[in-house]
Amino acid sequence: MQHAEQTAIAARLLRYIDEGTLQLGDDVYRQPVDEYTSPAHAALERQQLFREQPLCVGLSGDLPAAGSYRVHDVAGLPLLLTRDTAGRFRALLNVCRHRGARVAEGCGSARGFACPYHAWTYGLDGSLLSRPEDASFPGVDRVDHGLRELAAEERGGLLWLHPTPGRALDLAASLGPLAAELAGFDLGRFHPYATRVLTRRMNWKLALDTFLESYHFCVLHKDSICSIFHQNLATFDTYGAHFRLISPRRSIARLREQAEQDWQVLPHLVIIYVLFPNTVLVWQGEQVELWQIFPDGADPASSVLQLTLYSPGPADTDKARRHWDRNLELVLHVVENEDFPVGEGIQVSFGSGAQSHIVFGRNEPALAHFHRAVTAAAAG
Ligand code: FES
Ligand SMILES: [Fe+2]
Repeated sequence: MQHAEQTAIAARLLRYIDEGTLQLGDDVYRQPVDEYTSPAHAALERQQLFREQPLCVGLSGDLPAAGSYRVHDVAGLPLLLTRDTAGRFRALLNVCRHRGARVAEGCGSARGFACPYHAWTYGLDGSLLSRPEDASFPGVDRVDHGLRELAAEERGGLLWLHPTPGRALDLAASLGPLAAELAGFDLGRFHPYATRVLTRRMNWKLALDTFLESYHFCVLHKDSICSIFHQNLATFDTYGAHFRLISPRRSIARLREQAEQDWQVLPHLVIIYVLFPNTVLVWQGEQVELWQIFPDGADPASSVLQLTLYSPGPADTDKARRHWDRNLELVLHVVENEDFPVGEGIQVSFGSGAQSHIVFGRNEPALAHFHRAVTAAAAG
């Protein structure tokens, strides 16, 4: 984001603070409850949102060097992400072409992968390099039996793939002007500090809804982050189905003491990008959080979330580790003890028949935008 845009956003936020307002949507939005509970709707979403659209699966730092690999299972697909010997990001299906065993686990650095079942051996690019008893497989060409590869691209420090084999990845079409904006954050310089996978008894959209308004900050989070952020205050901008929310820290008031051309705006903001359909990139100034939120199998009432916290440099001292541990603990405390228990209660309440719709206020425009986009995409 250019300095001129940062300044304009900060000026907009200071004006909202002075006027006691925020960016409002045109109208209230009524969201059908059954889109959180219906197995039929969940099946449409799994196909239309999670198999038909590009997915963001990490930051470049997840694969720090040629030979890096990392399995990725939360997408409901057994993925094996690698950086090949030439340094190129590859997305493979972690499925042996002999009889389907997983060929890799965990993450690390490797020259290739030997299947644990009968030792078919694959390169970092998925090619089948060797197999015991090769002569027993006449007509089963090695060149045709590499790990299935998905279209994948590393762009602006983010790792993207298309989840369906044989499908092309068109990031220019999917991201539009957002690609250049994200590139401005130089996300490739961030290092993964820690990853947590959480499974919760709520629809994946309820988990995502948590991030989409600050109306609740000083109610639900009165003892945690209310003292850090303004309540019910954010800018909201869209890029097709993707969107951005920017909330000010209370420290933004300090900008009033300086001339606009001297403003260092970013430390006073939290910037949330929702990379449709399911990735939440939270830019916190010093750290980046990447939340990947997926349905947990076919159950509409269960979701799996993968959070990775990224630091701007490697955490190679005890002092640095203490710092990032504290930040991670705060993030997890807020969502696990405050946001998600409410979400799980909502999921149960949806089965009560109390209401056919919930309502998003004009002060919750990102929720309306997100659910409009989900409904439209699920309908194909
Ligand atoms: S299943 Fe992988 S080598 Fe047999
Ligand atoms: Fe929250």
